[in-house]
Amino acid sequence: MAFRDVSKEALIGTLTLGLVFIAGYLFGQKRKTFIMNLSKSHGKEQHNPLMQYVLRHSMREHPALAKLRLRTLEHDGNAMMVSCEQSQFMANLARLIKSKKVIEIGVYTGYNTLSMALALPDDGVVVACDINEKYADMGKPFWKEAGVEKKIDLRIQPALDTLDAEKVNYDPYYEKSLQLIRKGGIIAIDNVLWGGRVLQPAADDLDTLAIDRLNKKLHRDARVSLSMLTVGDGLTLAFKL
Ligand SMILES: C[S@@+](CC[C@H](N)C(=O)[O-])C[C@H]1O[C@@H](n2cnc3c(N)ncnc32)[C@H](O)[C@@H]1O
Repeated sequence: MAFRDVSKEALIGTLTLGLVFIAGYLFGQKRKTFIMNLSKSHGKEQHNPLMQYVLRHSMREHPALAKLRLRTLEHDGNAMMVSCEQSQFMANLARLIKSKKVIEIGVYTGYNTLSMALALPDDGVVVACDINEKYADMGKPFWKEAGVEKKIDLRIQPALDTLDAEKVNYDPYYEKSLQLIRKGGIIAIDNVLWGGRVLQPAADDLDTLAIDRLNKKLHRDARVSLSMLTVGDGLTLAFKL
């Protein structure tokens, strides 16, 4: 499936994830929160020798994650899957801040959800939000195989309902997540470069315009410190101050 054909779902996933990871506040716990999510080194980067070197010398993929990745690559919508190196990076961030709660907005087959669940302590929880249970059903056997299915709280309904937000568009995911996480919590937003289209958004390309608008807003947002990484399709990390 061409990247442009999955834009709406990918965008949701993006914001989510990033947003992907929330914690404490949502559950009334005074814990650092990590919100996050999605991208794709398995796309155009897969034939890049330097990228292959990076993957060979850094990936420590759990066997269940590797199986889920290969299973997902058989699916028509695989362009939506997070890149493995980005997922591993976000899992390391979750470990770094000792997160016990993660909110993933946009689960798809659950690669990142599984990656986060593996990174959390035994009493940690990933609140995994998606509207399509068929996608998640592909991942569930691998969650079980890894022995972490009890750490995954799958919610099949629009993520904004799960987050108790009011409006349906992209910016509220960020705003709601910022409310939910505590200081030191992280919002990870995937696909912020949108295949490079953010450089010159066409006037009628609403997805790209929305991403560009959010990128500009975050750059000015004094409530967070910021990093924008070129990993995958672009990953913004917003650290709540
Ligand atoms: C890019 S994919 C997520 C990739 C995933 N994080 C991973 O680890 O591979 C986007 C997902 O968002 C889901 N989605 C679309 N609209 C949604 C909504 N309103 N609420 C929650 N999930 C939504 C889609 O069903 C799709 O599974």
